[in-house]
Amino acid sequence: MSSKTKFSSKIGVIAATVGSAVGLGTVWRFPNEVQANGGSVFLIAYLFAVLLMGIPVMLSEFSIGRGSGADTITSFKKLTPGKPWWLIGVFAVLAPYLILMYYLVVAGWTVEYLWLSLTGGLYEGMGASPTQHFSAVMQSATSSTWSPIIWTLVMIALNILILMKGVQKGIERMSNLLMPLLFVILLVFCCVSLSLPGAMEGVVFFLRPDFSKLNPGVLISAVGQAFFSLSLGMGILITYSSYFPKTTNLPRTATKVSALVFLVAVMMGLIIFPAVKAFGIEGETQGAALIFVTLPQIFMELPFPQFWSSLFFFLLLVATLTSTVSIAEVAIAYLCDTFHMSRRKSCLIVLLPMVLFSSVCSLSLGVLSDVRVFGLNIFDLIDYTTSNIMLPLVAFAVCIYVGYGLPKSFFFKELSNDGSLKSRMTAVYYFLIRYVSPLLLLTVFINKIIS
Ligand code: PFF
Repeated sequence: MSSKTKFSSKIGVIAATVGSAVGLGTVWRFPNEVQANGGSVFLIAYLFAVLLMGIPVMLSEFSIGRGSGADTITSFKKLTPGKPWWLIGVFAVLAPYLILMYYLVVAGWTVEYLWLSLTGGLYEGMGASPTQHFSAVMQSATSSTWSPIIWTLVMIALNILILMKGVQKGIERMSNLLMPLLFVILLVFCCVSLSLPGAMEGVVFFLRPDFSKLNPGVLISAVGQAFFSLSLGMGILITYSSYFPKTTNLPRTATKVSALVFLVAVMMGLIIFPAVKAFGIEGETQGAALIFVTLPQIFMELPFPQFWSSLFFFLLLVATLTSTVSIAEVAIAYLCDTFHMSRRKSCLIVLLPMVLFSSVCSLSLGVLSDVRVFGLNIFDLIDYTTSNIMLPLVAFAVCIYVGYGLPKSFFFKELSNDGSLKSRMTAVYYFLIRYVSPLLLLTVFINKIIS
């Protein structure tokens, strides 16, 4: 049974969890959110959201996963037998499965961009306007019929290869190797970006607080970004923590993981904003265009553009791969645990249908873009329903479960490893889980629904 497998080291626990968390959410979504929400105030609001909601919800999920040692649905059944709490688990398995459908498509674009950077194709046939050139490349990479599907298939194959190797030899080994590399590459880019002439203007925009820009919308977006970037409300942390050894210090792990994710977010800000300001490229910093249109223009200004471009898209690929693997693992663990399936079989059952589902998502940006539900194409519909409805609701339900559904002693026992660790913070976390985090999550949910 997969739940008997554990990560083999403390480093493995951190690397795998940070690997899951750091993905498109931190590398791509975060700079967009900073740009859209008044710069530095968003960073401060994000820090508060991580402290008041992120770490407590993460600890709730850790306590459920490690406490039960089981997959996302079974864990609720084991901890509260005969009660309907396991329904939360059903949503927490369903949400990541739906997310995987479109996340793999974006992951496919990153592989294509890596390929185009390595071969130099990204910079070929440049006309008078680089913006037009890169916009046309992005248009074809994201909305043509076959190429995005083929690159998504490459990503699915990579996921299958890693996940079939299992928790220790697949997920843990990959994370131990790739996460340090990710930090080194980020550091290199920070140095390059900060040494550009005029970089300071970007640093000021990102780091000097301008509280006149603070409004409720900024706070709500910060909470949304915190649970997206920390992989909360998706069963991922429940599943991964079922692989934590009984000796793992949960509060310390949650703090370290959140701090590292925050650090990556800060590093991304220090890469993007100085570069954008240094080259005076404004306005093109929203959505996919930031990564796929603006950044290649910045690389063009540096010596050896192909090298920097390849290095960046490799970084993005690493970030996405360690996340897609964790998203898929939720359903794989469920099949292995509940139906006693072999890992091989459950990997295939989870990932092979993705060939179809992700292709439909991809086509919905091109030839199927006229197929609309509530005015949204299939890609955006899945993104909207999962990110705005399912994730905050599951995260909210998890807080209610740990705060009110389970005995108080359960949380305290898990966080103290049966009394062997002492931490005064546990009572604070418990208070936040009962009274603060659910309110923040509900506010985000209601706000998203109303707007
Ligand atoms: N935390 C990861 C990221 O920020 O990309 C993984 C993830 C987040 C996956 C949110 C899916 C999602 F909706």
